[in-house]
Amino acid sequence: MAKVKGKLSNNFCPQPLYLYGTYQEDGTPHFGLFCWFGWCWLGEGDGSLGAMVCIGEEKTTKDLIRKNGVFSANLAGEALLPLADYYGCTSGRENPDKMKRLPTVEPGQVLPVPTIAESPVSVELKVLKEEALSQARLNGESAPGSSSLFLCQAVNVTIEEGLTDQSVPFLERLAQAAPVITSGEERYVTLDGRDLGGWGEPQNKN
Ligand SMILES: Cc1cc2nc3c(=O)[nH]c(=O)nc-3n(C[C@H](O)[C@H](O)[C@H](O)COP(=O)(O)O)c2cc1C
Repeated sequence: MAKVKGKLSNNFCPQPLYLYGTYQEDGTPHFGLFCWFGWCWLGEGDGSLGAMVCIGEEKTTKDLIRKNGVFSANLAGEALLPLADYYGCTSGRENPDKMKRLPTVEPGQVLPVPTIAESPVSVELKVLKEEALSQARLNGESAPGSSSLFLCQAVNVTIEEGLTDQSVPFLERLAQAAPVITSGEERYVTLDGRDLGGWGEPQNKN
C-alpha cells in the first residue's frame, strides 16, 4: 500500500502510561499521568537502566521532581485506569485537593518516593540531568513554560510477585500486568486491541 505524507504526530506509535509519584513538602503523596517516557541504557561501567522522561508545561509533578530529584514511575495497568485518567486530566496547580482520590501508597524500597501498590511495576528513579527542550531555552533565553527532558537512573523496581514466575509464559504474565497504552488520537487501548475510551472518560467509571 502506498504511503502518503502525514501530519507530524506519533499516532500509531504506542506508548505505555506511567503514574509519576512524588512527595509534597508536607509528606503527602502526589501523582500525575505521563506517556512521554522511554527506557535507555546508561552505559557506564557495567551500565545501568535509565529513563528519558519528558514533561511539558510547568506543573506540580515537574515542580516536585525538580525539588526532590527523585520520583517513582508506576506502570498503569487496566485496573488503575479510572484513577490514572483522573490524575492525567486534573491539574495539581489548579486543584489543590487533587489528591482527595488516592491509590494504596507504599514507600519506595530505596528512594524516598511514594509507589502505588495496585500498579504491577513501580520503578524508583533518580534524576541525573534536566535538559530544556524549547528552542528559546536552548538559545539561553527565558521560556518558563517550556518542555523539559529528565534523564534518570532506575535505582530500584518492585514488581507483582506473580509476574516474576518464569514457569508461566511471558505473554500470559504480560496479559496479567495489563498495561494500558495510548496510541494516538487521545484514546486508551489495551495490548489485545480493546478500546478503553478517550482521555477524560475512564475517570467517571469509578
Ligand atoms: C494519557 C495522558 C498522557 C500524558 N502524558 C504526559 C506527558 O508525557 N508529559 C506531560 O508533561 N504531561 C502529560 N500528560 C498531562 C499531565 O498528566 C497533566 O499535566 C497533569 O495535570 C499532571 O499532573 P499535575 O498537574 O498534578 O502535575 C498526560 C495526560 C494524559 C491524559
